[in-house]
Amino acid sequence: MQIDIQGLQHFLSDKELSRMTALTEAVTKDLEKGKGAGAEFTGWLDLPTEYDKKEFERIIKAGRRIKRNSDAVVVIGIGGSYLGAKAAYEFLAHPFQNQLGKAKSKAPELYFAGINLSADYHQGLLDVLESKDWSIIMISKSGTTTEPAIAFRILKEKLEAQYGKTKAAKRIFAITDAKKGALRKLSEQEGYETFVVPDDVGGRFSVLTAVGLLPLAAVGIDIKSLMKGAANAMQDMKAPFGKNIAMQYAALRNILYNKGKSTEIMVSFEPRMTYLMEWWKQLFGESEGKENKGIFPASAIFTADLHSLGQYIQEGRRNIFETALVLEKVKSNLKVPRAEKDLDGLGYLEGKSLHYINDKAIEGVRNAHVDGEVPNIRLVIPKADALNLGYLFYFFEKACAISGYLLGVNPFDQPGVEAYKRNMFELLEKPGY
Ligand code: PA5
Repeated sequence: MQIDIQGLQHFLSDKELSRMTALTEAVTKDLEKGKGAGAEFTGWLDLPTEYDKKEFERIIKAGRRIKRNSDAVVVIGIGGSYLGAKAAYEFLAHPFQNQLGKAKSKAPELYFAGINLSADYHQGLLDVLESKDWSIIMISKSGTTTEPAIAFRILKEKLEAQYGKTKAAKRIFAITDAKKGALRKLSEQEGYETFVVPDDVGGRFSVLTAVGLLPLAAVGIDIKSLMKGAANAMQDMKAPFGKNIAMQYAALRNILYNKGKSTEIMVSFEPRMTYLMEWWKQLFGESEGKENKGIFPASAIFTADLHSLGQYIQEGRRNIFETALVLEKVKSNLKVPRAEKDLDGLGYLEGKSLHYINDKAIEGVRNAHVDGEVPNIRLVIPKADALNLGYLFYFFEKACAISGYLLGVNPFDQPGVEAYKRNMFELLEKPGY
């Protein structure tokens, strides 16, 4: 993976860069030595090598069992207990995997629940599950989050109606705190197989624990390669500033922020990265948005959004910078077919691959946006496989922690998330509110 800053050249000076380099090195040292704010939640730092190997083997086994005996698997969880698996699935799987059918895709369909309180969404899911063999992976670190807890009640009832209580229990897997929380208690009572979210790993940093790994193993994704990619990144992100892209990305975005660029738009020209950007939005938004500070993380999928947000990015308020996730190699070599008559005027593109055309769009968009005073950072990913994704996850996690420290906040807490819950519970007359 590489960082390309051609689109930044005239937005920063050498002096700004060298000042920020020194600061970045200092806060990175604090992070690595466990001296920064929230140090008790930095277990993710060495997770790619220091994970529970026995549990990892159980994850692989449970994944194989689900893959074998299920046409569909429903992952229940929200925020950090959802976005990593969703992002990885979308990044790695066939773009229409759920529609392919198990015979072709060799994997169960994957669905997500407990990500909202919508009756129609959850009823729709129940409709889809009708007459399928299926399993549940229930994820909640605290074990008490309302949205997934409600979805679990609904889906558990359906599963038990279909298989009976004892057989259903063998199709339910729970991922939660090692000791506390309602989900831990319930799982022990009902006899579900359980996996642990380590105490020192917060929700949005948990994709490389069972939270991300079990759903992915259940649909046949190579989680060993994912961990290997993360371990490679862990090694590379220990390098000094000049060779360390996590430090560089964190430093660059803070230089831009200090110059009034308070919104970062993460863009990609590949729809398989839509949820990777959603995961990134949670990671950076929840880590940095506090104490009236923070870069607002937004995202866009091009070229689709060039036809909606493009005008704003080109000519709207100049407080934005853009980070493009660029995929070097794609799997398909689809080309523009030849036509007898050039009625649509596409003759000049005949025989060209879509990837080549997409590349030209990427180039053209960067130049246009840089001309429009939108600084551009490019993150180049060699290809969409598990190894590269593991690398990318770890890169973003480390960059996020460094960036939060540069901003002067604790990147590992989320005090603001409670406000809506208090209001909602009061309105619902939850005891104690
Ligand atoms: O990053 C976080 O900590 C949050 O987004 C949580 O993951 C989210 O609120 C879900 O929490 P839990 O896993 O406790 O149900």
